[in-house]
Amino acid sequence: MKIIESPREMQQTALELKRAGKTIGFVPTMGFLHEGHLSLIEAARSQCDVLVVSIFVNPAQFGPNEDLDAYPRDFERDESLCVEEGVDILFYPEGEGMYASDASCWVDETRLSVGLCGGSRPGHFRGVCTVVAKLFNLVQPDRAVFGEKDAQQLRVIERMVRDLNFPVKIIRGPIVREPDGLAMSSRNRYLNAEQRRQALCLKQALDLAESLVAEGDRSVESIRQQMRVLIGTVSGAEIDYIEFVDDVTMAPVEVIESETLVALAVKIGATRLIDNMVLNP
Ligand code: PAJ
Repeated sequence: MKIIESPREMQQTALELKRAGKTIGFVPTMGFLHEGHLSLIEAARSQCDVLVVSIFVNPAQFGPNEDLDAYPRDFERDESLCVEEGVDILFYPEGEGMYASDASCWVDETRLSVGLCGGSRPGHFRGVCTVVAKLFNLVQPDRAVFGEKDAQQLRVIERMVRDLNFPVKIIRGPIVREPDGLAMSSRNRYLNAEQRRQALCLKQALDLAESLVAEGDRSVESIRQQMRVLIGTVSGAEIDYIEFVDDVTMAPVEVIESETLVALAVKIGATRLIDNMVLNP
């Protein structure tokens, strides 16, 4: 496996591979890899000649009071996991190399990124879209895999690719969970033993929504209220949002009549966790 730190070298390498007729698969990450990331790497592996994984904790997508400096990092462990997964190129750029100090161009998605995490994290999706556009220009992927764990991010990236004509096919990877249901996340590392138990309330609330829909309930107000009550019983859990949106347009839904994305963000102590599920009435 080759490790490339320089953005310019990454781009030259990718352009040479393309000229040689190779297909490039790509999985962008912020590192501290877990089974969720590895499932995306495995999905990409079978669909390309050359597999590129990037590890870059992108400052542009963190707000001023967020966990940029505390974000967990373990490059050596990530490196050996990538070797085991058959990654060909690990792109590991330095922060300063990715953004010019006077950078003044940004990619803004203006519709799908407004609510949910976009509402609670102003500027977050501008940072995500900008770095993913830059990474696509550097890595030149034919296919790129993104996880459904970040449902809004996935839809925003699909929209960016469509609207800006990026020649890349986006592949969706299903959410990978711990055996007890907690969605895997690099941020789970912040939880102590008690919080780790409390964190189960996200998936439990989603399961409740699913079973209410299965029983015939279609009212978002009623389902959301019952999810709030469930999470309310967990001390130390603070709801940021519980949103029901159309799976395609991400417009808020009041009555569940077609595929509806239910997404939630909950703070467990200081750690903000997200999870989601598609409800199929
Ligand atoms: P990161 O949080 O490291 O996630 C990298 C990819 O892994 C994303 O596509 C995310 O949805 C996926 N992922 C995370 N946890 C998952 C799980 N439990 N199951 C399945 N997939 C999972 O998302 C980012 O980094 C950044 O925003 C990035 C796209 C790299 C841009 O900086």
